[in-house]
Amino acid sequence: MKKILVIHGPNLNLLGKREINIYGEVTIDEINKKLIKLAKSKNVELETFQSNHEGEIVDRIGGAKKADFGAIVINPAAYTHTSVAIRDAISASDIPVVEVHLSNIYAREEFRHTSLIAPVAKGQISGFGKQSYLLGLEAAIELL
Ligand code: DQA
Repeated sequence: MKKILVIHGPNLNLLGKREINIYGEVTIDEINKKLIKLAKSKNVELETFQSNHEGEIVDRIGGAKKADFGAIVINPAAYTHTSVAIRDAISASDIPVVEVHLSNIYAREEFRHTSLIAPVAKGQISGFGKQSYLLGLEAAIELL
């Protein structure tokens, strides 16, 4: 069975409580449940992982190929705009990565307009709330 890894970056554990005007009321558990349901319907195995720690995210990306994942969907959250380490891990991973964001990062503060991840991702989906993850998963399944 094909496997996809979904990675949620820092502070996404707070979804549903955090800046509801921007991110909505959806919780990370609700997003994960929807992703698992979609994956099942497409006969794909899905694992989800959330971390507030850059190094842990780097480790998961680095180990993804060996763990038999065929693609990664990642919301790198604030690390989108800062992390050369996550970008390098994606470059080295040798598996397709889809970058997703709940909010439209280009319609927000200027510092969010730069993604260090986008140039090494297969593509980016930004601005559709929880639907960004579902669209990202559909794209990742196509890339398997
Ligand atoms: C985010 C956008 C980032 O700029 C921000 O730091 C986040 C969430 C999003 O999903 O819209 O934490 O990645």
